[in-house]
Amino acid sequence: MNEILHKQYTAEELMAMEDRYGAHNYHPLPVVLSRGEGVYVWDVDGKRYYDFLSAYSAVNQGHGHPKIVKALQEQVQRLALTSRAFYNDKLGLYEKYITEYFGYDKVLPMNTGAEGVETAIKLVRKWGYEKRGIPPYEANIIVAEGNFHGRTTTIISFSTDPEAKDGFGPYTPGFTAIPYNDVQALEKALEENPNTVAFLVEPIQGEAGVNVPDDGYLKKAKAICEKYHCLLVADEIQTGIARTGKLLASYYDEVRPDVLILGKALSGGVYPISAVLADDDIMLSIKPGQHGSTFGGNPVAAAVAVAALEVVEEENLARNAMKTGQLFRNELQKQIGAHPLVKQIRGKGLLNAMVINDSPESETAWNICLKLRDNGLLAKPTHGNIIRFAPPLVINEEQILESVSIIANTIKQYAG
Ligand SMILES: Cc1ncc(COP(=O)(O)O)c(C=O)c1O
Repeated sequence: MNEILHKQYTAEELMAMEDRYGAHNYHPLPVVLSRGEGVYVWDVDGKRYYDFLSAYSAVNQGHGHPKIVKALQEQVQRLALTSRAFYNDKLGLYEKYITEYFGYDKVLPMNTGAEGVETAIKLVRKWGYEKRGIPPYEANIIVAEGNFHGRTTTIISFSTDPEAKDGFGPYTPGFTAIPYNDVQALEKALEENPNTVAFLVEPIQGEAGVNVPDDGYLKKAKAICEKYHCLLVADEIQTGIARTGKLLASYYDEVRPDVLILGKALSGGVYPISAVLADDDIMLSIKPGQHGSTFGGNPVAAAVAVAALEVVEEENLARNAMKTGQLFRNELQKQIGAHPLVKQIRGKGLLNAMVINDSPESETAWNICLKLRDNGLLAKPTHGNIIRFAPPLVINEEQILESVSIIANTIKQYAG
């Protein structure tokens, strides 16, 4: 085995190995990466690329951030895992730090984003039964069409994407889907079902193609939720931690969600860490023994998350995302906004997308991503003809301008 692991393989051999021995639940762009630093990644042949996916916005602080890596290394050597059967000397400090950072009474630590969403679903249901006296098994949660909240069976039960959902039933009941960016539909759904305990929503729909709602959408949604004593649950797993130019995308509308779900960049991309934040009135609905995770809140996660959040503040990543994101969209618009292949350039901060002027079933966006790769920039289509552009938030203006030239030249030279 040692021999197999230490042999030098070609990119083709490594891709063939994944294809042969791994499940086919992803369709990766053909590039094999072996190193990362800041906004760059390198493939096995030493070619450098701008990373414009950032592991779906998990690497906001840049690849291999020294402070985050150090926190990980030091803690893993000292104490990695205790389970929550015992206290550890890192968790309480992290809990104090993150609750003060985002302004909530309490946090419930988990690992992946999907687990964070599952936790929030359990939490608001429990709150509904205990605090609102909802009849048993009747709690309803409103969600938005086009949502992406993860891959568990309950979460895909309320997905409206056939690819995510079909063939995986039976589905978990208790969810109502309404159109995104439609506050009238929200009010109507709340009127129709008085057992609704929460509205679960992404402030910008990332996976759906960076769908940015109208200004004030979340603010109006929050006011309607309050009228019906329903909790606003913001899934900021992708939009949070400075990605959109503010610490949370909810802050654009001056909204403080009742329940906040974070993941991805909460670790700077070095470890799976998610968190659900809420005040006591909601969070204490869950009692000992009713929810948990062997790895959730482990000392490594606690140390890493503190370091990752410190970096966001120390390096002013929200302000940088706001500034460089604006520059990115303006320059791209100027250089290729009128190109026949480009239907729309949209986004907030450094969560951006270019809609390609072709049918969602076409291969055009995929083929453009292959050319972008050849030209030194990695991005991936989402939902057919939309290419998401989300580099690490440590990117500087010069790097943004170089990236824009790569994208603009690729589009101008694209011949199908
Ligand atoms: C908004 C949102 N919620 C939840 C998730 C699921 O996170 P994970 O893949 O860590 O389970 C994602 C992942 O892309 C996401 O974008």
